[in-house]
Amino acid sequence: ADSLKILGIETSCDETAASVVVRHSDGRGEIISDVVLSQLDEHSAYGGVVPEIAARAHVEALDVLIEEALLKAGMTLNDVDAIAATSGPGLIGGLLVGLMTAKAIAKAANKPLYAINHLEGHALTARLTDGIQFPYLMLLVSGGHTQLVLVRGVNDYQRWGTTIDDALGEAFDKTAKLLGLPYPGGPAVEKAALNGDEKRFNFPRPLVGEARLDFSFSGLKTAVRQAAEAAAPVSDQDIADICASFQRAIARTMDDRIGRGLERFNAEFPNPVEQPALIVAGGVAANRALRGALQSLCDKHGFRFVAPPHHLCTDNAAMIAWAGLERMALGLPADDLTVAPRSRWP
Ligand code: KG4
Ligand code: ZN
Repeated sequence: ADSLKILGIETSCDETAASVVVRHSDGRGEIISDVVLSQLDEHSAYGGVVPEIAARAHVEALDVLIEEALLKAGMTLNDVDAIAATSGPGLIGGLLVGLMTAKAIAKAANKPLYAINHLEGHALTARLTDGIQFPYLMLLVSGGHTQLVLVRGVNDYQRWGTTIDDALGEAFDKTAKLLGLPYPGGPAVEKAALNGDEKRFNFPRPLVGEARLDFSFSGLKTAVRQAAEAAAPVSDQDIADICASFQRAIARTMDDRIGRGLERFNAEFPNPVEQPALIVAGGVAANRALRGALQSLCDKHGFRFVAPPHHLCTDNAAMIAWAGLERMALGLPADDLTVAPRSRWP
């Protein structure tokens, strides 16, 4: 097959992004341009993403970013073979902006449109960055999702575990808020933990020991609140100790939960062609305590641990473009211009 080029668009949360990606005839992917505008500054004063502000910011930025992505790639719309845009899950206002823009471009330039599930974008990124072969396991840990997914192929996913309450990133963000640390909480908690005593507090490790592969983090948040209240007024050292103990509880929890997932994978695929792989994606994948725990777990179970570069773990349009290319290369049908955005799309 010839090489395929695609323009990808991502607007499902608080990042506006556009990217041009090529799939070469040998199946290798190459990111030609990848531009992201984070709205972090516009939301941080509110301690979280405000949907209405996000949607308006996408409207203001998206056309400029698409032009920039094409310009950096040295291309015009005529040069790409298709348009791919996130059509869910996510905040409906942002999804509408991205998908309607993509439809307009597809119609005007007479190119096929691929409506992409954001989670599929995360799930397939490791094939773009590292050429990972199916099947593999993916752990998605972001502000909105905590999922362990068996990736058997394009369009062929099996969710093995999900959170029954808060997402892992949400637990970091809420813990940070409780302790008076800035938003987003993850990086702030990780930084504070560097000076902390991780053994000072024995925080709960929800669902550890259970056979099902789900996650739960809301009890951890309650325990953090109680520890902070008991230590009030909290000193910087108290905050550091709470953060370190919180991260330790998470590392131990993930060690148990994901360890079971790796064992199940080995049981289901006893004769792998390649070394089995665990992929991480999502903003929390930046966390060193979590990465360290996952790396040793993978070493123990004979898995390859794959963490794509940080800017491809967090929300971006290259992963959406790549998911479109994977569909094209398989000859999966493009989407009709009547396709609707879906705020929920498991
Ligand atoms: O994937 P992402 O950028 O956005 C979506 O949620 O879609 O993830 C953001 C989440 C936030 O909850 C943030 O606190 C968390 O990722 N995060 C971290 C770290 N960096 C970002 N959590 C823990 N440690 C970090 N270093
Ligand atoms: Zn995401």
